Amino acid sequence: MTSTGSDDAWIDAARVDELQPGQMKRIAAGGRKMLLCNADGQYFCVDELCSHEDYSLWFGCIKGKTLKCSLHGSHFNLVDGKPLNEPADCPLRTYPVRLREGSLQIAINV
Ligand code: FES
Repeated sequence: MTSTGSDDAWIDAARVDELQPGQMKRIAAGGRKMLLCNADGQYFCVDELCSHEDYSLWFGCIKGKTLKCSLHGSHFNLVDGKPLNEPADCPLRTYPVRLREGSLQIAINV
């Protein structure tokens, strides 16, 4: 999890007990579509659409700290969004996640 300065940038995305390890939740906010991911108890948020083609990564799966696209098989590092194998060659945007009073919050404007 990461912290930023202003509280204004944070939105509630899920209750902390809503996502089990390996599960994802689709979030739409600020004109963006994102995925909140529970990777073995650590939470990450990335763009929902694969950077290779506009295909939802929600159909993929989490393994360790990576997210696999189910269309062509690229894996993305959830920490920095970088692709680990082709055909994707552009990173996903990542968003800071924090826990506040039982809510997982993401920052979309930082
Ligand atoms: S659409 Fe994700 S790897 Fe091709």
